[in-house]
Amino acid sequence: MSRVRVHNLSVSLDGFATGEGQSMEAPFGHAGGRLHEWLFPTRTFRAMQGEPGGETGADDAFAARHEAGIGAEIMGRNKFGPQRGPWTDHEWKGWWGPNPPFHTPVFVLTHYPRPSLEMEGGTTFHFVNASPHEALRLAREAAGGLDIRIGGGPTTVRRFLEADLIDHLHVVLVPIVLGRGVRLWDGLEGLEKRFHVESVTTPSGVTHLTFTRP
Ligand SMILES: NC(=O)c1ccc[n+]([C@@H]2O[C@H](COP(=O)([O-])OP(=O)(O)OC[C@H]3O[C@@H](n4cnc5c(N)ncnc54)[C@H](OP(=O)(O)O)[C@@H]3O)[C@@H](O)[C@H]2O)c1
Repeated sequence: MSRVRVHNLSVSLDGFATGEGQSMEAPFGHAGGRLHEWLFPTRTFRAMQGEPGGETGADDAFAARHEAGIGAEIMGRNKFGPQRGPWTDHEWKGWWGPNPPFHTPVFVLTHYPRPSLEMEGGTTFHFVNASPHEALRLAREAAGGLDIRIGGGPTTVRRFLEADLIDHLHVVLVPIVLGRGVRLWDGLEGLEKRFHVESVTTPSGVTHLTFTRP
């Protein structure tokens, strides 16, 4: 059976994986880029932006694991865009431009389904109103036997953890205090008992935590 994986989910010391006040200008709300400063210099991130070079240390080794062996992604509607409620902006195709960095089918969970969007480079966004179990069934059908990435945001990852559907969770604990936003860990008391847990702190100051189903 293919595995269900989360990678590079960056969380502040006080447990927030995004800030408050998401808007078109601020995809992470008041958090801005602070959750991902560890990621920006890596070779993996720069390659995703079409830029050469970048750091190749431990942060990059973790970041690069995001890509390998993934056949489909599931994301929440708020990762796809800042809109809420029924779609009014039918031109919106996500933050990532004409060639998004997924290159697989992507299932966007929403209570407001709309027609699928076929993008350049192999990404197709499918909008589904589905439980985590049902979304995972659809993603597995589309993934050709490869693994499924749960791409975030925190609400969606939390729902999949509540349903015990995640086999590998990579959280990056970032030494910042956001104070407000959307929390990852609420309602998940004792989560660590289901996993083998490892942690590595890197020179950038973040700690990579991996929770792997034994
Ligand atoms: N820290 C990181 O590494 C990281 C990674 C990825 C994303 N992010 C950030 O996280 C933020 C988004 O996270 P979030 O927690 O606010 O939201 P989210 O998980 O992206 O999306 C939640 C929304 O998805 C829809 N949804 C979720 N489950 C559903 C289901 N089973 N059926 C139907 N609809 C469902 C609902 O929207 P509707 O009811 O409106 O349809 C829900 O309000 C963004 O700011 C993004 O940039 C951070």
